[in-house]
Formats: sequence, structure tokens, C-alpha cells
Amino acid sequence: MKPKVFVTRIIPDRGLDLIKEACEADIWEGHLPPNRTELLQRVQSVDGLLCLLTDKVDGQLMDAAGSQLKVISNYAVGFDNVDIEAATARKIPVGNTPDVLTDATADFAFTLMMSAGRRILEGDRYVRNGNWQTWEPMLLLGTEMKNTTLGLVGFGRIGKAMARRAVGFDMRVIYYDPSETKLDPDVKATRVDLETLLEESDYISLHTPLTPDTRHLIDSEALSKMKPTAVLVNTSRGPVVDLEALYEALNSKRIFAAGLDVTEPEPLPVNHPLLTLDNVIIVPHIASASKVARDKMAWMAAKNLIAGLKSEHLPNCVNPQVYLR
Ligand code: DGY
Repeated sequence: MKPKVFVTRIIPDRGLDLIKEACEADIWEGHLPPNRTELLQRVQSVDGLLCLLTDKVDGQLMDAAGSQLKVISNYAVGFDNVDIEAATARKIPVGNTPDVLTDATADFAFTLMMSAGRRILEGDRYVRNGNWQTWEPMLLLGTEMKNTTLGLVGFGRIGKAMARRAVGFDMRVIYYDPSETKLDPDVKATRVDLETLLEESDYISLHTPLTPDTRHLIDSEALSKMKPTAVLVNTSRGPVVDLEALYEALNSKRIFAAGLDVTEPEPLPVNHPLLTLDNVIIVPHIASASKVARDKMAWMAAKNLIAGLKSEHLPNCVNPQVYLR
């Protein structure tokens, strides 16, 4: 008999096909995620769960599934939606999808940096609203990249991919990453403390996981240390930035602009004050949304799921302590 799994949303075929072949798969076909009640119900007696960052996977959910639950595979590199401690306590390995979305996400963070700095969306609105009358020497002046400083908060795979891109733009790169244990000699970047990063950067891009330490890391105090010409970009997790403080900083021109792929909450309500400002770009958590990256994420999430169902080590496991005796 094939193992039973619940897949909480339709993911690309590259992963779904593997899952359908190996499992008896219950696939949530809604455009919106299953709500809590639906989730608790649909996980009952499954052997494996493939979930998304929109699903809260905690001890209650694991217990609702039952003690036969062998694996949780998260279709994302970030896994703050999964209670890792609860999974580890139950000896359930949790998989994620690192590497395959690194370039898509770094490309996107760079796009946001440049679009916010060069006021691309303001320009587009200007044209669409019929305001374009002539070429103007002072119209929509923005920031440049060359000889500026890029500050990276978080220097994992995506942070390093940002640093590599910055070389081509003749930028100086500094980074803050308290979790870094070994300096990487191949990447041209200087490690600094957070305060130096905030004070010296022209562009600040966030690439840190969401933890109790990074929640609202960018608050009003942090924003007050940034240059008035600074551009802030967040493609990590929404709660890393205090959006009320960001609104104040952007509205008062305390900083120049921001580009947000992620917000708190998600989705951001359409009446949120930030959406009244011209100097912020907000997109719906799409930094990894290239066809190539999403296909590979699906494949990797399926591989993690299937390995766990066979009691094999997951190719990408975030809690390998479950394998210790
Ligand atoms: C992730 O993988 O964590 C991103 O936020 C979505 O791809």
C-alpha cells in the first residue's frame, strides 16, 4: 500500500508527479491555503505532509496527524512556520529547499534595490497618469550603484549571492551575521557590527531567517541610524522589519526608499498606510518566483517527502538531530 500524504497546495508538476507516483496523495486544490480546521482535519492519519510557508505546522497539528507521521517537507527554504522543536521531540524530520532559489532571490533583491532607488514604479505611474509632458532635468532623480556601499544583514547563501552581484556594480560590500562561524575568503565583503552597517550602507538588504532575535531587528532605532539616502530591501521575512517604524521613516523622508517582498502581516491589507507612499515598492512575496526556481523547489520538496516516507535521511533536513540515537 502506498503511504498517505497531504499536500497543502498545488505545486509545480516536477514535484507533484513524483509524489503522485510514490504516494496516495491528497492535494489541496484551493487558491487559498486550507484554514486551521481544514488543515487539522486533512492531516489525520497521513504518513507525510508537504506544506507551505502559509501553513502553521505546530505540535497540535503533528498530534492531529497521529504518531505514524514520518516526515514534514516544507516547500520553502525558510521554515519559521514549522515548530522545529515540536517536530524534533516527535522524531519527525523536517525538510526544506535551500540553494535552488538562491539566484532567483538575489536577482530579485537586486531588482528591488534598483527599482526603489531609481523610482521605476513612480515613473510608470507618472506616465500612466498622463503627467509626462516633456523631458525634465530634475524629474524623478534617484540613486546610483557605483562606489556605494551595500550592507547585507545575513550572510548565508543568498547574502553571498548578493555580494557576488555587487562586485559587478563596483559596490563595496559589508555584512552583519552573528551566526557566521567561518569567514569565506572567496567573497569580497567585510564583516561589521550592525550599527556600522546601518550607518555606512547606501543600500541595506535583509537576508536573515526570522528568529526571536531578528523579529523587528529593523525598528525605529535602526532606521534612525541609516543614511537619509538609504534604500532598504526586505526579501527575508516580513516581521524582521517593524512596518509602523518603516512607514514613519519613509513618510518623513528619514530614509530614501524601500522595496518589500515580504510584510507583516501577509497579505498586507490594502488600506495599510505604507500603500499611500510613493517611495516604497511592495510585491507579494515573489522573490523566488522564477519558473526554474519553483520547479526545483517542487522537486526538492518531493524528494524530501519521499525519502522521509522510506525512513531514509532527507536530502535537506533542518533538524538532523532526529537521526541521533
Ligand atoms: C522561502 O523559500 O523561504 C521563500 O520565502 C519563498 O520561496
